[in-house]
Amino acid sequence: MAENDKRVAVVTGGSKGIGRAIIMALAEPGLTVVFNHYDPPDDKAADETIQMARDKGCEIEGVRLDVSDYQAVQEFIKGVVERHDRVDILVNNAGITRDNLLSRLKEVDWDAVLAVNLKSVFNCTQAVARYMMKQRYGRVVSIASVVGAMGNAGQANYAASKAGIMGFTKSVARELASRNVTVNAIAPGFIETEMTAQLPEKAKEAFLAQIPLGRAGQPEDVAQLVKFLVSEEGSYITGQVIHLNGGMYM
Ligand SMILES: NC(=O)c1ccc[n+]([C@@H]2O[C@H](COP(=O)([O-])OP(=O)(O)OC[C@H]3O[C@@H](n4cnc5c(N)ncnc54)[C@H](O)[C@@H]3O)[C@@H](O)[C@H]2O)c1
Repeated sequence: MAENDKRVAVVTGGSKGIGRAIIMALAEPGLTVVFNHYDPPDDKAADETIQMARDKGCEIEGVRLDVSDYQAVQEFIKGVVERHDRVDILVNNAGITRDNLLSRLKEVDWDAVLAVNLKSVFNCTQAVARYMMKQRYGRVVSIASVVGAMGNAGQANYAASKAGIMGFTKSVARELASRNVTVNAIAPGFIETEMTAQLPEKAKEAFLAQIPLGRAGQPEDVAQLVKFLVSEEGSYITGQVIHLNGGMYM
């Protein structure tokens, strides 16, 4: 736990969906949350997240920032530490899909998904790691996906980015463990958010048919696991990819 119980969390992609649920699960007086987002065309969802967290007594800031931009991320994290003195928690949650079968997958869609989903995890984790190592305290949680382990037709770019997060997590966990910084990933299955709302009805039915618990997951299911991993009770867990999918993948 941080000194004086004052903690600072950075959450990427915090305006809606799983990111917003993570912020709400962590939100409490004494915690400062700084999140980013990249929603077109406006900041409406981000403003709602800010209001919801403030209602829980949490100090919160939201900025529009592309997590795949290395330089912008370095400056963003530097600013967080200048304003708030420390950074205790990083949740790498921002992500996108640009699905297509391999034969039709455009280079631009391969590059975009790898940049937003995987390079961002490097950008943000490297930026916070130097402060966390100095503090001798840190918690990094990245949101991967079950398809990073299972594969999924039509998602070669997305699955590759999420499998990349898994390898990155295990390597960095080994590097940072001696400084009391834990690094883990959560691999959710099918979670009801705007991202999955875009899927064709047939694809949704196919996912649901594969879930032994017989229901889609909710953003809060993911958020509660993040909350545990960043808590004192989760302090002996590092280098893990924890699956959360209603039994879809065992
Ligand atoms: N929904 C699911 O079923 C599911 C399953 C497994 C993993 N995930 C992963 O969980 C994470 C959150 O997904 P979601 O369903 O809540 O998605 P969502 O589309 O509802 O929200 C995505 C968030 O990421 C932000 N974002 C997108 N591009 C960005 C960029 N370039 N820079 C900064 N922020 C950016 C958006 O502004 C938004 O806040 C993603 O990494 C996703 O791959 C989702």
